Amino acid sequence: MQQIEAYQKSFITYLEDFTVHKEPNNLYAPINYILNLGGKRLRPVLTLMTSEVFGQTAQKAMDAALSIEVFHNFSLVHDDIMDDAPLRRGKATVHEKWDVNTGILSGDAMLILAYQLFENYEPNTFQSLAKLFSKTALEVCEGQQYDIDFETRNDVTIPEYLKMIEYKTAVLVGAAMKMGAIVADASENDQNIIYDFGRYLGIAFQLQDDYLDAFGNPETFGKQVGGDILENKKTYLYLKTLELGTDLDQKELLSLMDKSEISNDDKVKAVKLFFEKTGAANETQKAVKDYTNKAFTVLEHLNISEDKKRLLKLFGEQLMNRNV
Ligand code: IPE
Ligand code: IPE
Ligand code: MG
Ligand code: MG
Ligand code: MG
Repeated sequence: MQQIEAYQKSFITYLEDFTVHKEPNNLYAPINYILNLGGKRLRPVLTLMTSEVFGQTAQKAMDAALSIEVFHNFSLVHDDIMDDAPLRRGKATVHEKWDVNTGILSGDAMLILAYQLFENYEPNTFQSLAKLFSKTALEVCEGQQYDIDFETRNDVTIPEYLKMIEYKTAVLVGAAMKMGAIVADASENDQNIIYDFGRYLGIAFQLQDDYLDAFGNPETFGKQVGGDILENKKTYLYLKTLELGTDLDQKELLSLMDKSEISNDDKVKAVKLFFEKTGAANETQKAVKDYTNKAFTVLEHLNISEDKKRLLKLFGEQLMNRNV
């Protein structure tokens, strides 16, 4: 097994060769822009690592890893349109730099490019990868629709929220790992265990994403801090605030969310105070730890060397402690 940074480096080299120089420029330039904007590359790294965990080379899993990263970036381009987000990875989002129509079509093309990459595998592997990809991509759409539906609902429950983030985010992390296992021809049982490991990590990852959306450092976070508050997102922070707060806290938070005569900055500041004083911010951090630990428990069922388990755990710990 290699160090996490080594997987990242070889993936980025592979990604650079993928750059599409074709006409029409307004279709392909946004694709190259978003793919080369940086990002943590955590999903492709997981695909490569998993392939090695199950005895195959990382190189063999490169196209599957690329497919996952292209799909992820497609979902971000459309997500930023849906969330009205101005910033991504510290730069203008695609629909801000070009326009919404460009974002829609370049995103569509990326989804197709992601699928096309499976053609580089032999028929059996192709079929397994394509099947998992289709199921996962549809679930991501379902999760994204719930996320949007929840913006205008005031009765969202924590279990509903957890299902929403499992679909919009966690299944893709699970699939990234399962694809590595598929390429390595791991047993079905091992494929399912590693999928569950990734799924729990993915839930922890989205909880942390919600936390950072409010409490991240604007200098380094790369996205608009407070974006979820301004979009009325039903995040864990928000739902826990309603659960833990007094009746008065609840009333004040709800009226604050409805207020239009207050500036965005003041609104974000005031809502964050509720997140903190009710203990919801701490509870969110606790939930990140809990789901990371659930992932680690799943690992126990896997018959791989302690060294490999240690590397997978290290990855989970780094995700939990990240601030971007
Ligand atoms: C952002 O994913 C979307 C979520 C699922 C929260 P990342 O935080 O992995 O984004 P990049 O690729 O590193 O920019
Ligand atoms: C993203 O959720 C999920 C997908 C892109 C499918 P968010 O909307 O929280 O992601 P960010 O915060 O914009 O990266
Ligand atoms: Mg978003
Ligand atoms: Mg979103
Ligand atoms: Mg977010």
